[in-house]
Amino acid sequence: MTDAASAPQFIPVSAFDLVVFGAAGDLSLRKLIPSLFHRWRDGQIPAESKIVGVSRSEMSDEAFRTLALESFHKFRPGETVDDSEWSAFASQLFYVELDAVSADADWSGLAAHLSGRQDKQRVFYLALAPGLYGAVSANIDRAGLKTPGSRIVLEKPIGKDLASARDINDAVGSVFEEEAIFRIDHYLGKETVQNLTVLRFMNSLFEPVWNANAIDHVEITVAESIGAGNRADYYDTSGALRDMVQNHMLQLLCLVAMEPPFDLEPDTVRDEKIKVLRALRPITEQNVRNVTVRGQYGEGAVSGEPAPGYADELGRASETETFVAIKASIDNWRWKGAPFYLRTGKRMRARYSEIIIQFKDIAHSLVKTGKGGLPPTRMVIRLQPDESVKLLLVTKDPGPGGMRLRYVPLNLAYAEHFEARYPDAYERLLMAVVRGDLGLFMRRDEVEAAWRWVDGILAAWKADETPAYSYPAGSDGPAQSAMLLDRDGREWYDGQ
Ligand code: BG6
Repeated sequence: MTDAASAPQFIPVSAFDLVVFGAAGDLSLRKLIPSLFHRWRDGQIPAESKIVGVSRSEMSDEAFRTLALESFHKFRPGETVDDSEWSAFASQLFYVELDAVSADADWSGLAAHLSGRQDKQRVFYLALAPGLYGAVSANIDRAGLKTPGSRIVLEKPIGKDLASARDINDAVGSVFEEEAIFRIDHYLGKETVQNLTVLRFMNSLFEPVWNANAIDHVEITVAESIGAGNRADYYDTSGALRDMVQNHMLQLLCLVAMEPPFDLEPDTVRDEKIKVLRALRPITEQNVRNVTVRGQYGEGAVSGEPAPGYADELGRASETETFVAIKASIDNWRWKGAPFYLRTGKRMRARYSEIIIQFKDIAHSLVKTGKGGLPPTRMVIRLQPDESVKLLLVTKDPGPGGMRLRYVPLNLAYAEHFEARYPDAYERLLMAVVRGDLGLFMRRDEVEAAWRWVDGILAAWKADETPAYSYPAGSDGPAQSAMLLDRDGREWYDGQ
């Protein structure tokens, strides 16, 4: 460890074979292949490794490589790729046409790629709809491609409720051991999300005050400026609660709320996270309107550009929520009385993810203050963009003129302190799978516990016919979101 900014260090991995099912799809072309290219460019992918893309489209290796390069340019505008670099990387990239869901498809093309390579770490990445995970796992096994150490990667969402998540987990689990199943929540691969554990547990300052005695409440915001766009058809079957809260938001909540794990072994941390999920107070038909808000964006403007409403993008009216705000209560000693307010939405004012830890007001002010009193100490953890950790404190404005107070941040801005390029979450996650580091992935019981809580909200919304309030694209969500906190005498902290 060093106190100076240090160059990134990559943990070497042994040669591996990565099979990407759904290789011609959006996730693969937008995230996986570009991430692999970056890992390759940093020298982390050994030359004997193979990346084999699989999908139903008819394509040669060459055509797949060209498609991958075009997608790279499309999704990473501004990044330059040298021809010789790309062709060296692409020489490790192959393509197989295969309907992996069909039991009688011919798997010999894929088998030929993997033949004689049982000694290499084998990873199957299912960039497919979750309903297909069981069938593809079974077919991998039937085709004899599962080696004893093979691993399988599942993208979120695992199901659309607890029952379907269990079915998927059972089906995949009948082929792969739990230790071989890597369930992705890409938020866990983000630099700043990893830093939450370090911040909390590797500084002596915070842990003594990290509880409801000192903390008034916590806010977690994941705002996006993009809309559902060309994912609208999928998104309409999901909505913000399933798409963002069941996974990303609850993972963030767990990392902020969990008890100190005794080490950083994957299961030690996951054991602590699941205790938080189990302690979440159920939301029922009786209280759902008081503690949740659903919203859907209408027409508006984002960053000065006109933006269509959700129903226009979808081409029909819909009740699906594109925004949700929730007051979550954790029923344990640490958090009794300190709620966690969560909100996430599409087509909001800006894209930013932030965690605010708001400490309690001071007991007694020494100076006369205006109506609002002194602002409370706040810790603002900015996950993206402009990653930073700020501690907002009241200080004396320097100079004459009496005791004038200012609210200013102690600011750990990553860009000023660290020189490194932050790898995309998928770069870290892909290499973690190859290394077998389960800590960044969700265990079966975690996913199911998160669904159990979310299922309660879905059922309550249905029974209560909770409306999705309209909000203009480019705003902070519906007015009811502010009222959710206002009822408790609080308000969302939206920067100073
Ligand atoms: C995905 C959701 O899991 O996360 C998307 O399905 C969302 O709807 C995305 O846009 C947000 O990820 P990020 O990394 O851009 O915050």
